Amino acid sequence: MSFSLQKLKNGFKRQGPIVWCVLDGYGLGKDDPNVNPIIAAKPTHLNSLIDTAKEQHLFKAIRAHGAAVGLPYESDMGNSEVGHNAMGCGQIYHQGTMLVDESFSSGKMFETDNWKKVVGECGKHNKTLHMFGLLSDGNIHSHMHQIFQLIDGAVKSSVKKIRVHVLLDGRDVPPESGLVYINRIEEKLASLSASGVDGKIASGGGRMYCVMDRYNSDWSIVRRGWNMMVHGHVEAADISGFYPGYFKTATEAIEKCRQLHPDKKDQYNLPFVIVGEDGKPIGKMEDGDVCINWNFRGDRAVQISRAFDEPNSTFTFFDRGVIPKVKYAGLLEYDTEVHIPNTYLVPPPEIHNTLSEYTCANGITAYAVAETHKYGHVTYFWNGNKSGYVNQSMELYECVDSLPNSETESHPEMKAVEVTDKILAALQSKKFQFLRMNYANPDMVGHTGNFDSCVRAVQCIDKQVARLAAEIEKQKGVLIITADHGNVEDKTQKGDKTSHTTADVLFTITDYSYNGEYTLVADGVKPDGEPEGPGLTNIAATVLNLFGFEAPESYRKSLIKFK
Ligand code: 3PG
Ligand code: CO
Repeated sequence: MSFSLQKLKNGFKRQGPIVWCVLDGYGLGKDDPNVNPIIAAKPTHLNSLIDTAKEQHLFKAIRAHGAAVGLPYESDMGNSEVGHNAMGCGQIYHQGTMLVDESFSSGKMFETDNWKKVVGECGKHNKTLHMFGLLSDGNIHSHMHQIFQLIDGAVKSSVKKIRVHVLLDGRDVPPESGLVYINRIEEKLASLSASGVDGKIASGGGRMYCVMDRYNSDWSIVRRGWNMMVHGHVEAADISGFYPGYFKTATEAIEKCRQLHPDKKDQYNLPFVIVGEDGKPIGKMEDGDVCINWNFRGDRAVQISRAFDEPNSTFTFFDRGVIPKVKYAGLLEYDTEVHIPNTYLVPPPEIHNTLSEYTCANGITAYAVAETHKYGHVTYFWNGNKSGYVNQSMELYECVDSLPNSETESHPEMKAVEVTDKILAALQSKKFQFLRMNYANPDMVGHTGNFDSCVRAVQCIDKQVARLAAEIEKQKGVLIITADHGNVEDKTQKGDKTSHTTADVLFTITDYSYNGEYTLVADGVKPDGEPEGPGLTNIAATVLNLFGFEAPESYRKSLIKFK
């Protein structure tokens, strides 16, 4: 495959630096300071860049959700995985959740060797099927209807005992909606008794406190999840106050946690283990059992998968105790480069012809930076789910260590200053023509739901963008500002909105050597031959045009129209 590109016929070319700045979770919302922290924050620097871009016709609202980013429904909010995939590859691919749905509807899911090897064998040998993952219909990491179809498939494969380990969401769905999902899954499990299947919830906890860490940010989250799911054990040090850790039902556990710790909400619910009349856990994992992770998204599924798959020689993150011999499978392959987990049920999207492959092949040096929470987004997701460099001699990726998750709300500035310091140093080194970066704040703080913290996050980002723009101006470069999806623009004073949105996002070009050579395609005009209005996938071709290249045929059209 050759990645070499044709030069633009009109000879247009910007030398760089071109900086692509992603404001994570910064959507276009209502013009109302009571519901939109962006309006309340009055980000003067960002607003002035946007105003100038509007005057120059270099601003556009673009799509970042639903079909525009490869999701099944227009009601599907965007997320960082699909958003960064879309930005980094310039094309629309069916994303993991769609591939899972397709596999269910074609029946392929249940015909694969892996299904037969894992679930089929479990049924045959009368072992317990454990299932865990995010109990949610947010459709970002998981979806209830997929969980139910897995359960139905297992029953058809003669599984007689199912133990479910539930991670409460409250981040992609309302902050205290956990019991709604608990009731739904309990109803489902109870209905199995008609087919002679014993199905029960065995343990659970909040996603941000148990199991779902990402990018090696805090392994204690994984340890807690492992202990409750695998060993039926809650460590005293991980719970606080008078919360006992062991309960007869999940509802009792969640209610107790809410009563003792009203500030924790679902995401941070303390771990719990369900015990029987004899006081013993009803769903510890035993030799020969099988375990399926029903999450389809990779970032927060990799670490727990490593805990199931790896030997002690490579797994050094916490003491797993006596490890039962459990056959583990992910719903998807979570890391397609390192191949995690060993066994999975649905192959992930195969993303080809990424922007990084083109920039490297055409002599454009590149730089990427983000803090830990979003580092894999600007590298792994950006490069079509491939970890590592595309061409190390042409690229540098840097990560700034994040603060612990628990500090996001009280310190909404997070590591934005340090991320800016890094990119300024990279710009000043003059080594890179194309630089990309992600400010995690609007998204991560948006997920706390705290309105005032969101305002501070936006104000902080605004100051950092000003520092960034000043340096790019000095170098006569180009600054592109956009976002991967909405989140921070839709909050309430009550703090009851924590999730992403289906909002459009901004796309703005600030070109410090602009001489009117081009504008963006007019509003309301769809790029030729494309079914959707412009979205995140149109930016890659736009950037290649700015660098003086024709975009590849397979890319969604550039947003630039030359005069
Ligand atoms: C998370 O994993 O934090 C949320 O479910 C989605 O957020 P992200 O898509 O912005 O990472
Ligand atoms: Co988010």
